[in-house]
Amino acid sequence: MKIVTVVGARPQFIKAAMVSHELRKTHHEVLVHTGQHYDCQMSQVFFDELDIPEPNYNLGIGSDSHARQTARAMMALEEVLLKENPDMLLVYGDTNSTLAAALTASKMGIRIAHVEAGPRMFDMTVPEEVNRVVTDHLSTLLFAPTQTSAENLAKEGITGGVHLTGDVMYDAFLKYAPIASGKSRILERLGLHQKGYAYVTVHRARNTDDPIRLRAIVRALIDLDTRLVLPVHPRTRKSLEAAGLCRELASASHVTLSEPVGYLDSLMLTMEARTIVTDSGGLQREAYFAQVPCLTLDDATPWPETIACGWNTLVPCMSNTLTEVVQVPRCCDGYPPLFGNGGAAQSIARLIGSLA
Ligand code: UD1
Ligand code: UDP
Repeated sequence: MKIVTVVGARPQFIKAAMVSHELRKTHHEVLVHTGQHYDCQMSQVFFDELDIPEPNYNLGIGSDSHARQTARAMMALEEVLLKENPDMLLVYGDTNSTLAAALTASKMGIRIAHVEAGPRMFDMTVPEEVNRVVTDHLSTLLFAPTQTSAENLAKEGITGGVHLTGDVMYDAFLKYAPIASGKSRILERLGLHQKGYAYVTVHRARNTDDPIRLRAIVRALIDLDTRLVLPVHPRTRKSLEAAGLCRELASASHVTLSEPVGYLDSLMLTMEARTIVTDSGGLQREAYFAQVPCLTLDDATPWPETIACGWNTLVPCMSNTLTEVVQVPRCCDGYPPLFGNGGAAQSIARLIGSLA
């Protein structure tokens, strides 16, 4: 079977790394990078560390407004799909690259397989929610990472083609966590002690693009009485600079800001943290995989199962509770296998093959 896989952003490189290797055992994969993420630390570092095959195409679409970014990707993808004429399009997650690829393929009558189908925040003001819902409704094969995701699809009337495979991010964690432990020197480099710091990431548009909300987050971080490590997403750096908050945050003696780190360093920071403070969907799950308590800087999460068992806590950004929540020891109710058994990529490759 000939499959065109479309990736474009950091989390998709990690997911594709796992599936590509399985897929290529029996299928012909053409890998397309839209170029949505392009800085070395947002893109190439993942290809190098996870040994992802060189993309056959890089569309170079870069950054822009939602409409322009999505439209540019669609125009370029249409040409690729016309030329390659694949049996199936494979997409991941919920970015504008995902949406662009799904819309383009569906209008061309190409079947779509969606990895990470079904997570929902039930809030259509979140750009990723629009991307997830539309992509799911256009897909022929839907790979749900969790039981809740599969149930969400059923509630929207999508039952055909849905497979509960588990989460490919968990596959990646199981494979790369021991490699990170052996190779990463990030703790030494930043002078960190095991379980002596919180790993912080912030990049959701609704946290970064509203200066009042961003200021509230920065103040809460400055007030924390814990060593913090914060690799700064380029979107966030831009917003911090525009709001005049960069220097304030950087000058707090307990805060270490850095460029985005590679995947192995990120895993290391995750595994050895005392707490994770984040708005990242990936990091919320990785915190769970590593059995590290997580505080999610948002009003809702597409991963409610991590909340239900006590490992994750929502901290609405406009509240002053971050300090209190960080100090309180977490009470975690067991460690159920919410994200599968590490064989998601294998199942996905097999299920795609069964459609041939
Ligand atoms: C995108 C996804 C989000 C995902 C995140 C992963 C959408 C709508 N959002 O958000 O779901 O969680 O990726 O990190 O697709 N920039 C650079 N260099 C880069 C990439 C981006 O400087 O390599 C800057 C640009 O100023 C750009 C901004 O970051 O405008 C935002 O980038 P964009 O890809 O539009 O969205 P993300 O916030 O990265
Ligand atoms: N990540 C990384 N370096 C960083 C921050 C994150 O390698 O500086 C990894 C981490 O594994 C995370 C993944 O990138 O789960 C996903 O990225 P992000 O948080 O940007 O996207 P989301 O999962 O929220 O869509």
